[in-house]
Amino acid sequence: MRIDIITVHPELIKSPFEFSIIKRAIDKGFVEVHFHDLRKFALNKYGKIDDYQFGGGAGMVLMVEPVDQCINDLMKDRNYDEVIYMTPDAKTLNQQTANTLSTAENIIILTGHYKGVDQRIRDKFITKEISIGDYVLSGGELAAAVLCDALIRLIPGVLGDETSALTDSFQDDLLAPPVYTRPSEYKGMIVPEVLLSGDFNKIDEWRYEKSMERTRKIRPDLIDKNE
Ligand code: ADE
Repeated sequence: MRIDIITVHPELIKSPFEFSIIKRAIDKGFVEVHFHDLRKFALNKYGKIDDYQFGGGAGMVLMVEPVDQCINDLMKDRNYDEVIYMTPDAKTLNQQTANTLSTAENIIILTGHYKGVDQRIRDKFITKEISIGDYVLSGGELAAAVLCDALIRLIPGVLGDETSALTDSFQDDLLAPPVYTRPSEYKGMIVPEVLLSGDFNKIDEWRYEKSMERTRKIRPDLIDKNE
């Protein structure tokens, strides 16, 4: 997979790609991530990429020309499965979307800033708009990093234990069950006996019950959705 991220602040978004599972995925060649500084396509030597919105109102808007040129430049070299725009005024990211996107070959992610991007860019290029939650960040960079993390870890081979992504919260629309590790007793706090029993059918049953219990308590909407 190749991910091209268009941003006004390349330095802001780089560090999440330099650690842990995501770094390993890049080092092992499962994914290439390229950062494109929108200011390289600025309209003047002062780096102009935004302007006031027509009709009045507070906040600057990313201009159509620099973004158009940047995306066209990328599209000269390859076809893209998706051109994604990170914005709070979109459908919220979920595990299903991450699963689907993890099978793409090439994607562009445009990160918004200020009041967002000129609507003509959304109309012309954007195939998917994604929000990471019902709150407004100061830019789309952190949102893009969240999206990339969620989908890169799903690329087959990226996680050492192939099954571990399948048992994440949300893969079956349930929250994950509690987990424990050694020691089996600490300051009087004990690990549920069933987990030490070696009876894997019983353990699976226990985990399912605990998942349901947690989901019912914390996210009943996930259960209602499937009924
Ligand atoms: N940009 C600003 N806020 C955002 C959000 N919640 N999701 C995606 N992009 C954003």
